[in-house]
Amino acid sequence: MTLHLSQSWSPEPEGTLGTLKLTLHNLSDQMLRPTQICYTSLCRIDETSEVTGGTVIRNQGSFVALVPDAHIPAGGCLNLTLTGLIYGARTRSQGVLTAWIVERDGSCIEATLDDLEAPDGTKRGGGKLWPEGQIDLPLGLLPWPSEVEVADWAEAPQLQPAPGAPREAFQIVAALHRRLFPDAPAPFSFSAGRPVAVRADASLPAEGYRLKFTPDDITLTHHGEAAQQHGLIALAQIAHAARSDGRFQFPASGQITDAPRFGWRGLMLDVARNFHPVATHLRLLDIMAWLRMNRFHWHLIDDEGWRMPSSAYPALNTIGATRAQDAALAPQYRDGPGGQAGFFSADDIATVLQHAETHGINVMPEVEMPGHSASLIAAIPDLRDPQEPNGYYRSVQGFTNNALNPGLPRSYEVAKTLLDEAIDLFPFDTIHVGADEVDLAAWEQSPTAQSFAAEHGLASTHEMQAYFLRDIQGHLAARGRRIAAWDEAAEGGGILPDTALLFAWRSKEKTAELMAQGYDVVATPGQAYYLDMIESDGWDACGISWAGVSTPEACYAYDPGDGLPDGPGRLLGVQAAIWSEYLDTTARINTVAFPRLAAVAEAGWTPQSAKSWPRFAALSRLAPQL
Ligand code: ACM
Repeated sequence: MTLHLSQSWSPEPEGTLGTLKLTLHNLSDQMLRPTQICYTSLCRIDETSEVTGGTVIRNQGSFVALVPDAHIPAGGCLNLTLTGLIYGARTRSQGVLTAWIVERDGSCIEATLDDLEAPDGTKRGGGKLWPEGQIDLPLGLLPWPSEVEVADWAEAPQLQPAPGAPREAFQIVAALHRRLFPDAPAPFSFSAGRPVAVRADASLPAEGYRLKFTPDDITLTHHGEAAQQHGLIALAQIAHAARSDGRFQFPASGQITDAPRFGWRGLMLDVARNFHPVATHLRLLDIMAWLRMNRFHWHLIDDEGWRMPSSAYPALNTIGATRAQDAALAPQYRDGPGGQAGFFSADDIATVLQHAETHGINVMPEVEMPGHSASLIAAIPDLRDPQEPNGYYRSVQGFTNNALNPGLPRSYEVAKTLLDEAIDLFPFDTIHVGADEVDLAAWEQSPTAQSFAAEHGLASTHEMQAYFLRDIQGHLAARGRRIAAWDEAAEGGGILPDTALLFAWRSKEKTAELMAQGYDVVATPGQAYYLDMIESDGWDACGISWAGVSTPEACYAYDPGDGLPDGPGRLLGVQAAIWSEYLDTTARINTVAFPRLAAVAEAGWTPQSAKSWPRFAALSRLAPQL
């Protein structure tokens, strides 16, 4: 414990995103003579920032390495000041996340860290605003159903499949419940209890089900296999609540009629910024199934790591999947000098797909392009135009020259090969290709891109991006797959609306614009459904905040359908996002993402008119966490 870092952020100088002051304390009785000081931080600098106390030698994403101006005397300290940040701080968790020094022999000493200190007068606090809530009916069901007609309530009975009912479907739900709540009484038995009959009824709406209760039996009527599982999960939830929480009971008679508001009820997990193991995926899929969510968007690729297996380009699974002090990809976020490494094998993917399929969840991979491609370009260096200078643009997340170049034939060849690999691995009819946040200056200083643009009459970065994406769209369409992308794929002429699905993350206005242009859209508004955003406005809040503050109540209240045009594009659903810059462990996901994940599940399922914040606040306490 030789080294400790203190840090503070202040908003000055005006017109910038502030100043970060770092003090490295040498707690030992030996002089430290570092050759480098390294840190990762959510407060970022670029080439225009002023640094005192050292000279920056590497600045990639959240990682900075400096050569210090001085040694650090025994018991003394070294000060660094970084002025003119390109990303400031709003909470204690947005400063330096890890720091270390490199010694002459190459060994590293890691520092312990203070929280980021706030400027004087900053509002502290920032706890979760999740009230106890209130229930009018003793029904433990979430998402809340379309219609509840129940007057008599009683103790929950043991339930068993009636003769002829699909026992395997009961078994899947019983096993799901056992994994989620290992110590709770099982909702179903195969030997005793009130019989539950199961019938198909195609006159119910898509994915719709009805539960009819009498004191002697229960009948589940459903439209389709997914609806059958929804109905059984609803029944298991109702029984679970009644048998494990004194506020809840079981319908003695009456009925529940239910169907989802939207067909797409998604959750995105980012495994590129921080790797999450297969076990986390399986548990998250269980939670999704319990909340009747049905699309898992797997953000497998980003600047910080390539996590999809590739036999065409094995370097993606070594160079592209490895972060370390001296690697092409530097340590990021909460990495130490050893960084992290990992990608999913074809077997891992098959395990996730199998588990998802059992629970009625489709898995949509995201193969991010043309931006956010630092890991791809690091692994396949001939994707660079050798004449393009490095560092003339830097993405919002701090990566230079991180976009596939539309002027290079090699870009199309590699992109299509990788998409073919994704098609081989993933059966879902839609493949997401990213398309977000290509820096507006990208390719401006690439002679190859510029002559390509002139030849094809492309007047801007967005138009070049659209050209590239349309070509990719054609490739996917020829293989029977629909292209999905973030909303920027509509810029510069955009991809063709008729075979596209866009994920609207920037604003309601943008969503409306996309629909007016004819795009089908899934709403995943950063300001409401990005679960890594802080949940209250105080310095002590956990999370990041570039899209704002998303309190559980605001997240719940957000109506994705409000203020949209009637068409021609359609709003197909909603999606929550677990971006992992901050949400790197299951503990952090649990702290920050709940109950908002359940709030998005209810937005996807429950008609706006049937929603109630006090009821949701009460019921969401029953929702399982990781
Ligand atoms: C995004 O948040 N860049 C999709």
